[in-house]
Amino acid sequence: MEVIIMPDTARATALGTWLIARQVRAQPDSVLGLATGRTMERVNATRARMHREEAIDFSRCRTFNLDEYIGLPTGDERLYRHYMNRHLFQQVNIDLRNTHLPDGTATDLKAACRAYEAAIARCGGIDLQLLGIGVSGHIGFNEPLSALRSRTRDKALTPATLRQNAGLFGGDPNNVPRRALTMGVGTILEARKLVVVVTGAEKAKILAQAVEGPVTSMVSATAITSTRTAKSSWTKRPRLCSRAATTTDGFSPTNPIGSKPAVGWGYREGRMPRRSRALIAGGLSAAEFILRTPDAMDSGRATDADQFNRDEIAMNSDLK
Ligand code: F6R
Repeated sequence: MEVIIMPDTARATALGTWLIARQVRAQPDSVLGLATGRTMERVNATRARMHREEAIDFSRCRTFNLDEYIGLPTGDERLYRHYMNRHLFQQVNIDLRNTHLPDGTATDLKAACRAYEAAIARCGGIDLQLLGIGVSGHIGFNEPLSALRSRTRDKALTPATLRQNAGLFGGDPNNVPRRALTMGVGTILEARKLVVVVTGAEKAKILAQAVEGPVTSMVSATAITSTRTAKSSWTKRPRLCSRAATTTDGFSPTNPIGSKPAVGWGYREGRMPRRSRALIAGGLSAAEFILRTPDAMDSGRATDADQFNRDEIAMNSDLK
């Protein structure tokens, strides 16, 4: 797992978008796993702009969204289908017939879930899955106590999620549908690559848990640490994150500098938690540093963050 901390929301979301654009350029018929929510609104806006300005071609892509509310009528503006059409699909050159969301309006929800899994399998699985993390620690709508091997199914939303998502429902959590269809944690983990974008101080604690573990069905986002290909980017400054998993010398994946200055390669591997072994990239400030796995260092290949920083399309002042 590569953890990339960016200095602000604009750069974090731009990096998320850049990773998707790179995937589509390398494999024009990619199967993309998409997400909704406030974080993704920005990613989608950047992606739509990339399509316009950088000629990213989505015409051969197939997409599968993580989730959909249950109980809203077909055509309701608050359905994620409507949201995706408006925020992304109508902004890029994707064929709407190649875009999929779980059908939360179906009369037979179980059959709808089976059909969704089958459709993903028919496309050969998801190449790149985009994820946010909810305040409850969910990915998709996999609320606490979601089995790590779960498949697409319906889930009851927790009060924390109802509050988080009340914006689209007049600000009143009581108006948010109580249930949703969601890809399971097992479905998500089968994606070949995961890109997780997290922003905002209110996510710092849950993010630290997600990255530091332990893996638990109480926080489905912790499951991403069990895949080697996961990439996370976020803007949270390390000192705001939980220190639950710090070692005796103050190291934690979200506070890697610990009590020592960020100069050169600060830590010997033997002193780090095994799963989160990482090296501190020299020359970056505490608020803008990148963690790289020893593998990436050994092979001498530039990390995604390095490439992103060099890529002109990555930053544009109007994103700030
Ligand atoms: C949405 C989804 C959710 C969100 C998460 C973060 O399709 O699957 O897991 O990604 O709740 O949402 P925001 O960005 O609104 O905080």
